[in-house]
Amino acid sequence: MRGGLILAVESSCDETGIALVEDGRKIHSNVVASQVAMHAAAGGIVPEVAARAHLRWIVPVLDEAWDSAGVGWDDVSAVAVTEGPGLAGSLLVGINFAKTLAYVHDKPLVPVNHLEGHLYAAWLEDAAREIEEPVFPLVALIVSGGHTFLVEMRDHLTYRLLGETIDDAAGEAFDKVGRLLGLPYPGGPAIMKAAAGSKRHDVVFPRAWLGETFDFSFSGLKTAARRVIGAERGAAALPAIPSNGVTATAEEQPLPADRVAELAYGFQDSVVDVLVTKTLRAARRAGARSVVLGGGVAANRVLRDRLADGAREAGIPLVVPRPALCTDNGAMIGAAAARRWEAGARAGLDLDARPSLPLARR
Ligand code: KG4
Ligand code: ZN
Repeated sequence: MRGGLILAVESSCDETGIALVEDGRKIHSNVVASQVAMHAAAGGIVPEVAARAHLRWIVPVLDEAWDSAGVGWDDVSAVAVTEGPGLAGSLLVGINFAKTLAYVHDKPLVPVNHLEGHLYAAWLEDAAREIEEPVFPLVALIVSGGHTFLVEMRDHLTYRLLGETIDDAAGEAFDKVGRLLGLPYPGGPAIMKAAAGSKRHDVVFPRAWLGETFDFSFSGLKTAARRVIGAERGAAALPAIPSNGVTATAEEQPLPADRVAELAYGFQDSVVDVLVTKTLRAARRAGARSVVLGGGVAANRVLRDRLADGAREAGIPLVVPRPALCTDNGAMIGAAAARRWEAGARAGLDLDARPSLPLARR
């Protein structure tokens, strides 16, 4: 038995997630209350608002998790919770909730690293995969709103950091460029959708290769996108200057939908190209027997497809969770918790949020 049935709580960012996961693999229930619609109005996450929304939704999310699970507290062997990294206020809501549950029901408390959760989502039961579970040694690319890194794993819970972003995370770049294009928050899914409708594929944005390293940089791409979009919005504004001499600012001029689609395609193509190329190079160099993809940006269809094609050509199986298990959720925390539980990880009621907790150091 690997941990038995774990009740896992995730609240590090803007999704309130609670799941019941057995042995780190079988999902009995996985309920996520997303704050996306709420933050869309502000164009991004407001930490204080996010923490309050977690407070509002965490009990209904737990109730629904029980309703859909068909198990009870007697079946639960531990309560797991994300201790970091993430927004301090958001983390504290989940941590205090999990502590209370563990105390009241007399269950051990298992602290989980959110990034380890994204990684271990690859071990969750999932019909759509070529191999049963990832095999070592493996190379994993984790791409989320706050993190972008490549790690090598030769065994469970041991990581060698191969490279990471030196500026923006990939998801952050999607969100910022989405905003520049006038698309709704979060930019990732919106850019993917817009790009899918692009009829021309001739917009080429720069790629930051950073030599042979496995590091990433997306700030230059963001600046290039800002320059092109700004110039085109300015140009788009020209014919619109009315004869009364009242001019609108360039930012106020939306681009035509076709052009948004072409620019979205060019941006996405640049991000995906760098992510896929570096991941496959790292996998070959490490002699990897599998490649894992995780984190919110792994919900991107083009990234999934291109990495799958490349991995197939390289003869290395790719394991990528279905999109709903790539974005933040409780099940991934339950998956990582099972391994941590097995390794003896326990937290006391003094567990605190660790907003900058790293997964691994070089
Ligand atoms: O892992 P996640 O849910 O939260 C963090 O831990 O950060 O990742 C959220 C990020 C956001 O930046 C969002 O724009 C991005 O994942 N994302 C996507 C897609 N779905 C979510 N990026 C590209 N394509 C998508 N389909
Ligand atoms: Zn995440």
